[in-house]
Amino acid sequence: MKNKLALITGASSGIGASFAKELAAQKHDLFITARRLDRLESLKKEIEQKYNVLVHVFTADLIDPDGVKQLLEELNKQHMKVDVLINNAGFGARVFILEKQPDDWDNIIRVNVNSLVALTMGILPSMVERQSGKILNVSSTGAFQPVPWLTVYAATKSFILSFSEGLAVELKDKNINVQVTCLCPGPTRTEFHSLAEADDIGFPNFAWMESDQVVRAGLNALEKRERVCIPGVYNKLTLYSQRLVPRNIVTHLVGNMHKPKSFLAKKQ
Ligand SMILES: NC(=O)c1ccc[n+]([C@@H]2O[C@H](COP(=O)([O-])OP(=O)(O)OC[C@H]3O[C@@H](n4cnc5c(N)ncnc54)[C@H](OP(=O)(O)O)[C@@H]3O)[C@@H](O)[C@H]2O)c1
Repeated sequence: MKNKLALITGASSGIGASFAKELAAQKHDLFITARRLDRLESLKKEIEQKYNVLVHVFTADLIDPDGVKQLLEELNKQHMKVDVLINNAGFGARVFILEKQPDDWDNIIRVNVNSLVALTMGILPSMVERQSGKILNVSSTGAFQPVPWLTVYAATKSFILSFSEGLAVELKDKNINVQVTCLCPGPTRTEFHSLAEADDIGFPNFAWMESDQVVRAGLNALEKRERVCIPGVYNKLTLYSQRLVPRNIVTHLVGNMHKPKSFLAKKQ
């Protein structure tokens, strides 16, 4: 019997690579994509040897609007129909907003938001036609309140959360059997923080999760048809308890936690 096909963006490291391994262990064939071909190729080799599934590698830069187009064309060319879409690729930058150029912020919005919507729009019609499919969008605990110093990044994650919940209700109201789940991880040990210049963010040690724990929670939520998944006790407790605190105070506290040390040094 033919395996189901899972497409995972941002599969070259961290949470995306863990999604690839976990879905392969659950006997899915994979379509994995990111920019770094060497990483994707070695993941393909590891997975095909271990799990006896097929892995299709495709490089695409999701900053480029043509990236999603090329990806959809490749699926068409290979006659591949996606059963599980994992919109995971994303990045951020922790810095005072004027220390970056508008194009830098635009690039984050293109990857985190535009490509996610474009890919969903490209793949959803075939899921609707088959009355079957699963979409998991990776947001963040940063979606639930502003995060000063990661302002643009957190705003993109709020978009993803809102988009996912809205889409889930539209599909349900139209009796379309496509599940949408939004996964909102907190601090997770991946390359994300060093790329975002956020290695020194002051989360307590016990707050950090491994990417495979986050992925298992997300796939479990997708299976149970939950719309929003907040993995880990620390993340759940902080998000539920902050609902009792006025938003401006939460924003101030979160800002203090994320303020770059270099900025504090300059102020003295
Ligand atoms: N780690 C955390 O604490 C945390 C917390 C909450 C949410 N998240 C979210 O989790 C998701 C995965 O991040 P991660 O933590 O696993 O970080 P990561 O290890 O840095 O992985 C990010 C992935 O996104 C891909 N990517 C980045 N820019 C891209 C571009 N222009 N085109 C195509 N692919 C691109 C990267 O691949 P290439 O560089 O090879 O292109 C990489 O595979 C992100 O959406 C992130 O916002 C992470």
